[in-house]
Amino acid sequence: MSNLNAIKISESVYWVGAIDWNIRYFHGYATLKGTTYNAYLVMADKITLIDGVKKGFECELLERVASVVDPQKIEYIVSNHAEPDHSGGIAKIAEIVKPEKIFASKGGVRALAAYYPELKVEAVADGGELTLGNKTLKFMETKMLHWPDSMFSYLAEEEVLFSQDAFGMHLATSERFDDELPWSLLEEMSTGYYANIITLYSPFVQNLLKKVAASGLTFKVVAPDHGPVWRNMDNFVKMLGFYDKWSARRTDKKAVIVYDSMWHSTEKMARYIEDGLTSQGIKVKSLFMQSSDRSEVAAELLDASALIVGSPTINNELFPSVADVMCYLKGLKFKTPFTAAFGSYGWSGESVKYLTQMLTDMGGELVGSVKALYLPTEEIKKQCFELGCGIGEKINNKN
Ligand code: FEO
Repeated sequence: MSNLNAIKISESVYWVGAIDWNIRYFHGYATLKGTTYNAYLVMADKITLIDGVKKGFECELLERVASVVDPQKIEYIVSNHAEPDHSGGIAKIAEIVKPEKIFASKGGVRALAAYYPELKVEAVADGGELTLGNKTLKFMETKMLHWPDSMFSYLAEEEVLFSQDAFGMHLATSERFDDELPWSLLEEMSTGYYANIITLYSPFVQNLLKKVAASGLTFKVVAPDHGPVWRNMDNFVKMLGFYDKWSARRTDKKAVIVYDSMWHSTEKMARYIEDGLTSQGIKVKSLFMQSSDRSEVAAELLDASALIVGSPTINNELFPSVADVMCYLKGLKFKTPFTAAFGSYGWSGESVKYLTQMLTDMGGELVGSVKALYLPTEEIKKQCFELGCGIGEKINNKN
């Protein structure tokens, strides 16, 4: 019988995950290039599987394991993260493999018990070790990166870090390693992933970067649960720099305009604000919510110094697509240095009032707002241009 193949990533570690070329929606995030659910087989005295795959991909994992060893020889399973894209397959895999033990962090034990009460899972301590006979796994809790249960595992003898969600990206490729892909793609996909998955937990990232530096651990391979495996450490160090920048919210001379429009009035206002910003040398990304996804907005906002939001008033409310993206950005706790609101209306005109309140609640300096009755007049166009100029000046003074 022929099997899907495992891919060797270090002397005794194999990638045995699954490639999901087709997923386009991942809990609210548009995954336009698919993803992978990475799992790793450690061929130590105690053969160990690190992480599972999403439910439905178990056979792919088991086939890849079988290309190296009989899956029933797996003695340990370590679950670094209980979210179902990594644990969904564990119950079925455990039923087939019948491992001697399954390990997770304390939080992982609680989460796995809730999802899969039939599994018996043993807790490992933060800083604890597990001997695999001739190899050793060390554990480091990484709470809230991405869930309370999350932890890193480190194969000391081969300097391999299994980093679960951290340093991953939603990218389905036939290439398994970072150095087989262009940096521009790695940066683009990591940006979207960080913005949509990790932004909320940025303070934890800052702490984690310090914790990892203080640990003195060195890495030859960093193996996340999504996307390519990092084996070019120059690339990985560069990505650590981006994690530091993103988590510290260091921003560039860039503004994001997010808007929707009923009869093109709010759209016209966006154009004049944009023109004011570019007149100050600011890079602008304008995102029309009928042709953009909320996850694209999050990705563009990650390094932006200004968030400017426009909505017409409809039924005394925000336009639904704008309400959607604002709810999403609020949840991710995006605090952008400068903000502004704009929008057209016919009679009641609540949208700008609601937007200014939301933007104020999110933090940052609310620079101003502009409303247009039905159509932007010459005076309103001027106000929009001047709002763009004013935000541009503030960005230039800050950066
Ligand atoms: Fe890839 Fe938080 O799961």
